[in-house]
Amino acid sequence: MSSLIIDNLSKVYSDRGKSVQALRNVSVKMEDNHIYGLLGKNGSGKTTLIKACTNLITYEGSIRLEDEHGLRPLGCKDYSAVLEGNRNVYWRLTPLENIRFFTGIRGIRFGTIKADCEKMLSDLALYEKKDTIVANLSRGMQQKVAIACALLSNPRLLFLDEPTLGLDVESRKQLETFLANSEYLRNRIVLVSSHDMGFIRNITEKHLYLKAGALSLLDINDLKDTLYKVRVSSSDAGWGGVAVLRATAVNDRETELIIDTADTRLPDCLGKLESAGVSVLEVLQLNRDLESIYLGVDEFSL
Ligand SMILES: Nc1ncnc2c1ncn2[C@@H]1O[C@H](COP(=O)(O)OP(=O)(O)O)[C@@H](O)[C@H]1O
Ligand SMILES: [Mg+2]
Repeated sequence: MSSLIIDNLSKVYSDRGKSVQALRNVSVKMEDNHIYGLLGKNGSGKTTLIKACTNLITYEGSIRLEDEHGLRPLGCKDYSAVLEGNRNVYWRLTPLENIRFFTGIRGIRFGTIKADCEKMLSDLALYEKKDTIVANLSRGMQQKVAIACALLSNPRLLFLDEPTLGLDVESRKQLETFLANSEYLRNRIVLVSSHDMGFIRNITEKHLYLKAGALSLLDINDLKDTLYKVRVSSSDAGWGGVAVLRATAVNDRETELIIDTADTRLPDCLGKLESAGVSVLEVLQLNRDLESIYLGVDEFSL
């Protein structure tokens, strides 16, 4: 068992004299055998979080790995990353040469991973291209070469920053199938940032959501059924102590409430409203798929 423990991580960039707070007090614990989706708008700090975890930038706070030996800072052999863009591998080398290079600099002898390497190249539909220089491969193939290099280096932690960017539908699907089923991910912690909701939904149920550098951990199963839209005949703002995320006046007699029943059961919430003299006219469960959660996170400030 190992966990990645991020504690109070903050990053301030300075941009021509102005400071930009890219991460603010991010704390999270991620466990192995899970893929975590990293969501958030452009500029919310996703790449910065991955760069901090891979020691590419300085930061405040701590990022540590907890395993059978205790809690320790990350060493460079603990992680691999495929960063945004397509410059993660050497274009003048072939996929096989890239794999030999990137595993070699980690001290891995090729003989010990040859069989895994061949299987992975086949699983990624790259075997036929293993001796073609990377510059002559498609964008999707280049991305898969980068992922093969990262995984064959056998890291505890794998970071993929927007891995589907620029991929065609078929390559995206191949990557999705690979990540969703891959035995190569076993015993690893994987963090994947993406704007592609379908992709994220199909590979993972645990999500980190960044909003202006601040983080919440969302488990899609916890969130699915907890939000209700309740129409009530009152414009009173008291709501009997029920956690109301949003109250919108429908007219001068009726109000529409969005309530989150994550902590209190729905009947208890409705009971509290009734005892406060608020009559409930209609209750609708908000059917929330990942996209609506993602869009609604800002709206309902979860
Ligand atoms: N090297 C940098 N110098 C100054 N500001 C930066 C730098 N890198 C990122 N930022 C700023 O930090 C914020 C977070 O950026 P980033 O982590 O790239 O977000 P995301 O990957 O979610 O789009 C943005 O406001 C961005 O403009
Ligand atoms: Mg980014």
